[in-house]
Amino acid sequence: MRALITGINGFVGPYLQHQLKAEGAEVYGTTRRQSSCKEIYQLNLKNQDHILRLLNKIKPTHIFHLAGLSNVKESWSNISETLETNTIGTINVLEAVKKYKNHVRVLTIGSSEEYGKISDGIYKTGEKTPLNPLSPYGTSKAAVSMITQNYHKGYGVDVIHIRPFNHIGAGQKKGFVTADFAYQVAMIAKEQTDSNKITVGNLASFRDFTDVRDIVRAYHLLALKGFSGEIYNVCSGMAVKIEELLNTFISFSSKEITINVDPEKLRPSEVPHLVGDCTKLTELTGWEPAIPIVNSLQDIYQDWIDQL
Ligand code: GDD
Repeated sequence: MRALITGINGFVGPYLQHQLKAEGAEVYGTTRRQSSCKEIYQLNLKNQDHILRLLNKIKPTHIFHLAGLSNVKESWSNISETLETNTIGTINVLEAVKKYKNHVRVLTIGSSEEYGKISDGIYKTGEKTPLNPLSPYGTSKAAVSMITQNYHKGYGVDVIHIRPFNHIGAGQKKGFVTADFAYQVAMIAKEQTDSNKITVGNLASFRDFTDVRDIVRAYHLLALKGFSGEIYNVCSGMAVKIEELLNTFISFSSKEITINVDPEKLRPSEVPHLVGDCTKLTELTGWEPAIPIVNSLQDIYQDWIDQL
């Protein structure tokens, strides 16, 4: 495999790079800014010709299109930018691939946020669950999933759309729930703040969490074994209440911690319950998550402790 990872310097990119290299792949990446590393190229995803020139230079067999805006809360204050970066950015990649003379498989990264509010009575969302996104981010990724189908059916582009549910690990930025919680608990544990109060958003929602190291293993397997034009969920199938996640982080510290719900951290609308069904992926590849959530949470917490 000769892989090209767009947005290689984001949260998932370095983990995917590591996984692919361990599997013997040659890995190249793109970032928005210039890089001193010779395998990493600066790329403007608004420029289709630039993307095509890069494909002709690298000649990848697989493109993992990770680049995009991923923060659900922030998508409410950046609606146009979210739609443009995620949707038009993907169209530009697919357009370049359409013009590219060699065969390349594209893996687009969507999200469980595409499903949004699911109908009463459905507990786990499979790939056929109707899309009903409740955030601009979810809408952008739902549009990506549909556009990939157009390019596949219309132009025969070899594309697989992946819908990961929440993925977590060391290195994820603040602004995502496990980083926000672990950072604040670690600050208190290391006595780097005057108050033992932590601020949080909605604790009542349920999400399906998978360690990022398991997620990238699934991306690699889908690149090799996925069927062209198909959509695959990647998830654990387990619902975790956000409040429970917070209590686990608090249990890692010996301090007394008080909790303050900050209305600023709530979203204009949000999905109450998102749990996935990844039977399609498991039956095809044998993939199952291997890292228990408590280990992921410990690693994330320890990473913040080490950083502070
Ligand atoms: N970020 C954050 N910070 N979320 C909080 C907080 C907080 O202090 N307190 C409670 N929450 C709640 C959110 O309201 C949401 O219900 C849940 O924790 C998870 O929030 P995020 O970590 O921001 O993730 P998300 O579910 O909105 O989206 C993530 O998962 C998607 C896949 O399902 C992102 O990683 C997306 O990029 C990804 O596609």
